[in-house]
Amino acid sequence: MRGIGVVGSLAIVLVVAACEPVPDGVTLRTLAGDRGRHIGTAVEPSHLASAQTVEFLAAEFSVVTAENALKWGPVHPERDRYDFDAADLIVATAEASDQIVRGHTLVWHRQNPAWLVSTVWTRDEAIALLETHIATVVGRYRGRVAHWDVVNEAIADDGSMRDTFWLRAIGPDYVTLAFEFAHAADPGALLYYNDYLLERAGPKADAVHALVSGLLADGVPIHGIGYQMHVLVPELMPEPAALRREFVRYADLGIRVAITEMDVALILPSDADDLGRQADAYDNAIMACLGVAECDTIVFWGWRDDDSWIEAEFPGFGDALLFDRAGRPKPVYTRLRGVLWWNLHVAAPDP
Ligand code: XIL
Repeated sequence: MRGIGVVGSLAIVLVVAACEPVPDGVTLRTLAGDRGRHIGTAVEPSHLASAQTVEFLAAEFSVVTAENALKWGPVHPERDRYDFDAADLIVATAEASDQIVRGHTLVWHRQNPAWLVSTVWTRDEAIALLETHIATVVGRYRGRVAHWDVVNEAIADDGSMRDTFWLRAIGPDYVTLAFEFAHAADPGALLYYNDYLLERAGPKADAVHALVSGLLADGVPIHGIGYQMHVLVPELMPEPAALRREFVRYADLGIRVAITEMDVALILPSDADDLGRQADAYDNAIMACLGVAECDTIVFWGWRDDDSWIEAEFPGFGDALLFDRAGRPKPVYTRLRGVLWWNLHVAAPDP
């Protein structure tokens, strides 16, 4: 008899290790850091008024994204006036917490100031406005904001170019111009194209891949793809293997992959089964990311269910995040700690 053999022993080691509980007090930040990943959340300046919250964020997360503070409307309310108070606070607090900052976003069709979108500009005027805005905002945080979502949601769900103020004012090369202006303002920042619905193979995912491939072929300074990953259950998150295939298409182009705004919204009121399905959806995304070395950043669009954008934008949906309305960890939080711990201790290293 050869006993249980090598395969049997390995299986026992895996089972024992997988059952080993994650030690108390080990946070997502530590677990993700051990896997070479940044993990984080969107923040608003209002969150940072409480020292307790700042301490909590510093413990759990190594990256923060300004949820609204760096969008055109809040940061550039009048043509000759910028308001950096909110973004300054977010960046300074992140630095004190040894977190990196994702800047969001330099070109989008939403949350633009009225002075910008209610005027008809010539093409040259629109280009000059874009250049000045990007030079001012990116230049202010040069060396301090590590990633910028330069262009957000430029492709419509059917794969066509989205009809936006910027497309009408400048034409399709506004995308190239925005990346060039951002690179000139901070040559050290990593520049991303960011969009939703990229996790599903289909016309939008293909059109965005074609756009990014074209930019790279033209030598445009773009360094990463941002998967927003806003998911509404019962729509399901693709399996890790399918998601990994999507990520690898970008890794093959030589750029980074980030999950930038993840949340998984449930139909309200949610029950224990829903919370389990939610944990499965997050689990799939994190597992896929851990399987692709270029996927190095995972950001959730908030952390508490009572403080998420979902209920206002999608009435009837909510409970989308890792902590409940009282700030208590939900099943998905426990699951993700387990996924990161298990992956660190027993899974094979990245290929
Ligand atoms: C949302 C914010 O969370 C809300 O507070 C705001 O009212 C609207 O925008 N995709 C994006 C984010 O790129 O900027 C959006 O954030 C959510 C969808």
